[in-house]
Amino acid sequence: MTHLFPNYKRESIDLVKGFGNYVVDQTGKEYLDFTSGIGVNSLGHQHPKLIQALEKQMHLIWHTSNLYSSKLQEDVAKKLANNKNYLGFFCNSGTEANEAAIKLARKATGRSKIISFQQSFHGRTYGALSATGQEALHEGFAPILPDFQYVPYNEIEPLQQIVDQNTAAVMIELIQGEGGVLPADVSFVQQVAKLCKEQGALLVVDEIQTGIGRTGNFYAFEGYGIEPDIFTLAKALGNGIPVGAMLGKKELKDAFGPGSHGTTFGGNKLALRVALSVIDIINDENFLAGVKKKGEYAMKSLSSLKDSSDKVLDVRGQGLMIGIQLTDADTLNAAVSELQKKGLLVLKAGNNTMRLLPPLTIEQGELEKGVGMIRGVLEG
Ligand SMILES: Cc1ncc(COP(=O)(O)O)c(C=O)c1O
Repeated sequence: MTHLFPNYKRESIDLVKGFGNYVVDQTGKEYLDFTSGIGVNSLGHQHPKLIQALEKQMHLIWHTSNLYSSKLQEDVAKKLANNKNYLGFFCNSGTEANEAAIKLARKATGRSKIISFQQSFHGRTYGALSATGQEALHEGFAPILPDFQYVPYNEIEPLQQIVDQNTAAVMIELIQGEGGVLPADVSFVQQVAKLCKEQGALLVVDEIQTGIGRTGNFYAFEGYGIEPDIFTLAKALGNGIPVGAMLGKKELKDAFGPGSHGTTFGGNKLALRVALSVIDIINDENFLAGVKKKGEYAMKSLSSLKDSSDKVLDVRGQGLMIGIQLTDADTLNAAVSELQKKGLLVLKAGNNTMRLLPPLTIEQGELEKGVGMIRGVLEG
């Protein structure tokens, strides 16, 4: 008997505790965590510096509303802007960050069309859902908002054909996460940025899954030689304390004047105190170099599965965001279940892709252990 809507397909295990890069279920069984709560717990579980930050704030103040100034919001926005020309807005989730981006883009340009890509995922509220290029997720929720259009990913011509004087924004994930860990080509993204500039459309990069160090850069866009007009964050920003953010170029500021947009909980002090520490830990040259190095090891070791396993079609990704595309969904489901039994949690993406999002704090030995288990299951 459940008291919950069946909108999630849940495993029967209940994760009741976490430490480092491991989680523990209700029976006491331990699992190496290659999921990070879907790209959230990038600093693992019970990180001492985050506990310290949260505890300190717990004894000061939890929530104040946005009726008052907030040095904490200023500090986090400043760090997220990273000496670039961005202003911040705080909310509580990824979908809300994208709602803010869509509203800002429409208001700032006075245009209505939002273009995004097939297989994209931007969230479940109406604006973000409308930007999500997956028909299956729209099913039963009609009407989707007007003036949202989808074009094939990594192909510039279809986009060129529909970007026009009414295009407010082009919205893109630089690696489509939910869609199957599909990286965008650098030259494609640079052409998208150029096209947006020529047409006066804003480039919105959804960094909700790729941002905050996941790819080995603090932001994935740093590896593409572009500067978005707007970008969105959530997931790893609070390492498990719900928080989202939208950053937009200073020139857009008049569109978000007083009363234009807001949320009660956005910029909550507990969440932002943790975010401040998360940013300080991750936005460090050595930390990010470590993510790149571990990612290269995992990618190299797993790539050889393309030759050694007839279940594996492709291995792709960047940093510690890795997809192993298998032959079909049944093979994927069987592999994920077997790994769970053996004590390793991994994710699914798209139809047939195993997605790995281990904590960025994963130790080399733990990574080797997990990669070895995956190899064992897929070669078996
Ligand atoms: C790229 C991307 N955008 C937006 C979202 C939505 O974020 P949330 O689930 O916090 O609303 C997700 C969540 O998976 C995501 O991966």
